[in-house]
Amino acid sequence: MAIPQHIAIIMDGNGRWAKQRGQIRVQGHKAGMESLREIVRACSDLGVGCLTVYAFSTENWKRPADEVSGIFKLLVAYVARELKELQANNVRIRLLGDVSALPEDARRAAQEAQTSTADNTGLQFNIAINYGGRAEILRAVKAIAEKAAAGELDPASLTEEDFARELYTAGLPDPDLIIRTGGEMRLSNFLTWQSAYSELYVTDTYWPDFTPAKLNEAIESYGARERRFGGIK
Ligand code: FPP
Repeated sequence: MAIPQHIAIIMDGNGRWAKQRGQIRVQGHKAGMESLREIVRACSDLGVGCLTVYAFSTENWKRPADEVSGIFKLLVAYVARELKELQANNVRIRLLGDVSALPEDARRAAQEAQTSTADNTGLQFNIAINYGGRAEILRAVKAIAEKAAAGELDPASLTEEDFARELYTAGLPDPDLIIRTGGEMRLSNFLTWQSAYSELYVTDTYWPDFTPAKLNEAIESYGARERRFGGIK
């Protein structure tokens, strides 16, 4: 089985999963956290180089305050519960997004997870939190404009590689496979720059029901694709 070097996941359907069971939405996110745990473990075991998950978008602030705070509480719980095992499995965590806007305890937990795993050499696990593809691109543009204004770079000679170095994903490969659970056929501001040639896999399965066996199905589907990157075979 050809294993994608970088898998990115839009973990959608938690709310619908909860509703189906007559539970509140945060229960769905809690179940989603359990799924996440299994999928991180599976990616580590499969030898996937890089896994990126969309945990909280720049648009998710529009949700009711109790749901927003529920998601951040889960982030704190996730780090408290999983960090030891992630360390043992040599997983390196990177945060994608503006974590400065997070509640203090969530920011601290997320940053601790990133700092304490920085020297690990196994699975690169990126958590996109308060992340938006457009915000990321705008942030890169501002950084580049500032360098240009300071005379540190010549705008005319700027390359795609230079630009990519200003993104949260600097130094990481673009996602080969983007999986979206919950059935919606859109990218929702996720990895806008990086997804240019990603293969997309959408499943109706809600995120809390997405198991390592379903991950294998997605990887098999990816393996059967012909990637041409704009060329011809
Ligand atoms: C989308 O489902 C999911 C989210 C916005 C939150 C994702 C969070 C987790 C999987 C658990 C938290 C884990 C960490 C590490 C923070 P939705 O609520 O939009 O579902 P719906 O489309 O069915 O309403």
